[in-house]
Amino acid sequence: MDNRGKHFKDESGIFERESYRVRSIMNQRKRRSEMKTRVMLFGTGLVLVVVLTVLAFKLAGLNGESDKQDNVSAAGSSSVNGEEQKENKQKKKNDDKEKDKEEPAKPAVATGKKKWLRDGLDPDKPMVALTFDDGPYTPVTSKILKVLKKYDARATFFVVGNRVPQYEDMVKQAYEQGNEIATHTYNHANLTKLSKKGIKDELNKSREVIKDVIGCSFSTLRPPGGSINDKMRSVIKVPMIYWSVDTEDWKSRNAKSVLNECEVIQDGDIVLMHDLYPSTADAVKKLVPRLVKEGYQLVTVDELFHYKGINAKGGKVYMSGR
Ligand code: NI
Repeated sequence: MDNRGKHFKDESGIFERESYRVRSIMNQRKRRSEMKTRVMLFGTGLVLVVVLTVLAFKLAGLNGESDKQDNVSAAGSSSVNGEEQKENKQKKKNDDKEKDKEEPAKPAVATGKKKWLRDGLDPDKPMVALTFDDGPYTPVTSKILKVLKKYDARATFFVVGNRVPQYEDMVKQAYEQGNEIATHTYNHANLTKLSKKGIKDELNKSREVIKDVIGCSFSTLRPPGGSINDKMRSVIKVPMIYWSVDTEDWKSRNAKSVLNECEVIQDGDIVLMHDLYPSTADAVKKLVPRLVKEGYQLVTVDELFHYKGINAKGGKVYMSGR
């Protein structure tokens, strides 16, 4: 065994031990400093987290505030909108009211003053519209007007324009009693045989002559002979009125026969007659009280459409109020 070697060995052992100690001290220091760094880093991190959290909360708080403000302004604007809506609603309501007010008087507004659309009829009670073509003719028209007046009944007179000047008083009286003055053209013309201009002339002349007497125009036409074609539909701006009950009074010239034709009358019927024949006046004298007794309201064509909710359009044909 070599001592030196041993010593050396020892020495080296010492050295080794020494160096181990030193190393371990260094390691400890290193570890400590590492620990310090870690702690510092951790602390910094923690502080950063805290700061960031606080900032985040603050921002959130601010946002909350601004939300609140937004809400306030939104509430403000919504209340403004609310006001506007309220105003608009009120305006609409008023407009509707105006509409409601205007509706019954619509024909009067459109063409002047008209008396043949009464307020206050009962829409649930049956209605019938008696109509008289080809007049006026005083010997018959005056008798019919007398009966209508007695029973507070109304009818529609489809007058022939060229007869109006001669029987002006009848037209005036009929109108004053609340009857409807409508047109049966100026010359009792078959409108299907006329040009567009010819059709317009018939209606314009009728309009003028009626307006001269009662101050307003007609709102409906009964085409002579009940004849119509597409040309008429395209030119004529008022509703064309047919009938649902044909008394054939012009054919029978007999009151009883006329009454027989009126045996079955229904709610909404439009009855066709002519105020040219004394037999027709005789029939009316019995027919009107009978219908009134049966609960019918005797109305003008305008009233019939109005109360039955029919929006009669120009150029279209209507046969009844149903
Ligand atoms: Ni006729």
